[in-house]
Amino acid sequence: MADLDPTRRYRFSPCMHTLPASFLDELFRVSAVPGIISFAGGLPDASLFDFEGIRRATDAVFEEHERSALQYTTTDGYRPLREIIARRYYTRLGLQISPDEIQIVNGSQQALDLTAKILSCPKDTILIERPGYLGAIEAFSFYCPRLQPIPPDEEGPCLDALKTALISDDPVFLYGIPNSQNPSGCTWSQSRRKEVAELLEGTGCLMYEDDAFGELFFDGKPRQPVMRHLPDQVMMSGSFSKVVAPGLRIGWIRAPAPVLAAFNRAKQAADLHSNLFSQMILTEYLTRYNPDERISVMRREYSERCHLMIDLIEDLLPDSVSHTHPVGGMFLMLTLPDQMHSMEIFKKGIQEGVAVMPGVPFYVDGGGTRTLRLNFSASSHEQITEGMQRLARVFQGL
Ligand SMILES: Cc1ncc(COP(=O)(O)O)c(C=O)c1O
Repeated sequence: MADLDPTRRYRFSPCMHTLPASFLDELFRVSAVPGIISFAGGLPDASLFDFEGIRRATDAVFEEHERSALQYTTTDGYRPLREIIARRYYTRLGLQISPDEIQIVNGSQQALDLTAKILSCPKDTILIERPGYLGAIEAFSFYCPRLQPIPPDEEGPCLDALKTALISDDPVFLYGIPNSQNPSGCTWSQSRRKEVAELLEGTGCLMYEDDAFGELFFDGKPRQPVMRHLPDQVMMSGSFSKVVAPGLRIGWIRAPAPVLAAFNRAKQAADLHSNLFSQMILTEYLTRYNPDERISVMRREYSERCHLMIDLIEDLLPDSVSHTHPVGGMFLMLTLPDQMHSMEIFKKGIQEGVAVMPGVPFYVDGGGTRTLRLNFSASSHEQITEGMQRLARVFQGL
């Protein structure tokens, strides 16, 4: 962790000194350099947002709700929006979820923060996939937990490692992304979801199932969540960021009633409620326009970009570089041969005009020096082609 204040003038809480160093500032700085093609970030493509539809929904909110759209509201969130979310669980997955089981949050990122806040004490163990989502690692770290990584096999988190950790570490929760994981792009098999639920059942360990990408399977077929097998022990978050627009900052969490009540207390203390205006716009938008058509365009587009990137990896990069095979989402991961280091590729990539994300920050126990995360959603076909050629030159120069 960098020294927060070399002058020693300001005092910070002890946990600020144990946070992992943030690599993101450096990444954003270099990615913003003009001419750089960035595969390092994680943005959806803004050209796919329904700008006109959201504009019209905004006008309709002013017409219909007038000043009440600008008022304070309750912490749990705008009920019509929670009803839409509950209905979508039924139409997409056949799950019977009541709107009362759902809490709206400021993007699902907020749910990560509040979950660690309500469930963990300093030094408690939180289990996280290896590699894990950086935003979760950062959010959890503020509560000074022991982050215990669970390595994957071809089907999802390795069951033996999970079993051992459940017995020896008394974890408070397991955090996982079964659908198109960030950063690896991997998806858990259906059977692994059931097996994980079976292992967790009856232990004191909850699961936080992060479903940021569940609507972005390239084949459009939804996968059943772990929550289906263990509703009383699984909390699950979702988000409109990838399928409508991240700037609205609207996500949600579905949790068992006592957990949701605790969560609601924490949310109230943190910010009273999520932006009511955004919630109303989203409700209006989802009611007027069927988002599924647009989501299927996103799926098709991201699928093409992913496959283009994979073709170029296989054509242009050395055979010793392997890659994951995403079936949805926005990321894939490269594994480099032994002698290469992801930081070196990152630095040389910047000189060559392409930004990639080194794997190191995704590994809470060290490691990741031979992995790179590549984002394919934010770049056009031309940018992917040019960016991969630049990346190929980096490898040729090593
Ligand atoms: C796996 C995962 N979870 C949660 C989030 C947070 O998204 P948001 O707060 O926009 O819902 C992201 C953002 O990229 C993500 O990749």
